[in-house]
Amino acid sequence: MIRSVITGCGSYLPAKAMSNAEFEERIDTSDEWIVQRTGIRQRHIAAEGETTADLAENAARAAMKSAGISAADLDLIVLATSTPNNTFPATAVEVQHRLGMDHGAAFDMQAVCSGFVFALTTADQFIRTGQAKRILVIGAETFSRILDWEDRTTCVLFGDGAGALVVEAADSEGNVEERGILTTHLRSDGSHKEKLYVDGGPSSTRTVGYLRMEGKEVFRHAVGMITDVITAAYEATGLSSDDIDWFVPHQANKRIIDGSAKKLGIAPEKVVTTVDMHGNTSAASIPLALDVAVKDGRIQKGDLVLLEAMGGGFTWGSILLRW
Ligand code: ACO
Repeated sequence: MIRSVITGCGSYLPAKAMSNAEFEERIDTSDEWIVQRTGIRQRHIAAEGETTADLAENAARAAMKSAGISAADLDLIVLATSTPNNTFPATAVEVQHRLGMDHGAAFDMQAVCSGFVFALTTADQFIRTGQAKRILVIGAETFSRILDWEDRTTCVLFGDGAGALVVEAADSEGNVEERGILTTHLRSDGSHKEKLYVDGGPSSTRTVGYLRMEGKEVFRHAVGMITDVITAAYEATGLSSDDIDWFVPHQANKRIIDGSAKKLGIAPEKVVTTVDMHGNTSAASIPLALDVAVKDGRIQKGDLVLLEAMGGGFTWGSILLRW
């Protein structure tokens, strides 16, 4: 059988880091409240004129460099974002052109905070069916552009950034000891739309809109949905929390991450947490966290890595892979 193996990883953060203290000057909030409720200490904010495509391009180049490949070696680009440069064309196509890739295809994937899990799952399907041999999967966001900076219940939570993986086809016997993506599980349920959405769009208001969220409601559903798709990953592979080397969750809120790890019986030292430094970067948060843990030497070739995300829609999903 064919398996999708991760061969490269990269990320990019805008230069400006914004501390919680900077919010204290603008709105009625405090560093103490933000840290206690979310675990966030700072987030990066794109410079004026710096776009999702810019962040994506930088992350893509870093991932390609780490894989030792050029754009000529790629068959496909899948870019997860909810903050594209334009309503159309897809930001992925713009990145494709910037990378000098004049063959193959590129498209965007929209599943909000679960976007990277949906994108990597899609790439895995293309590889397993033999339709592509090497794919660049990017998560890139400029959520700072869709925040209501007067709304203290949302604006303190999000940040900008991008991360990317290179995924390649490899022959496999199909056992869980071999490298590559072992199993993927996606879910969505549109009945939760009003709990987390952007109040604008081309077809509804002809505007871009701002992010709106019932934080308590999102929180209430998050841990259950996350454990649901992770349990599915364990059932599909016969593996358990004891086997996991690294848990790399979507970075929304430290309380959600800790609550999920606790419910699943994943030891705290196996959890990769970057929400303190990056805030919630939506579809970019998982590849950003992966890149941190690869660069600091935690994630090594052959390690069993568990990814999960949950976000607007609601959408949620898990991926279990051997790095
Ligand atoms: N600073 C100070 N006070 C605040 C702030 C702030 N930034 N934001 C809200 N408050 C106040 C509220 O107004 C409220 O005051 P009140 O009691 O006088 O009405 C009080 O703090 C408590 O508010 P709650 O909403 O009950 O606070 P909660 O403990 O639920 O924390 C939070 C809010 C952090 C948003 C939490 O609900 C959460 O993390 N939810 C998950 C949502 C999430 O992470 N979404 C990300 C996108 S989806 C995803 O990625 C999974």
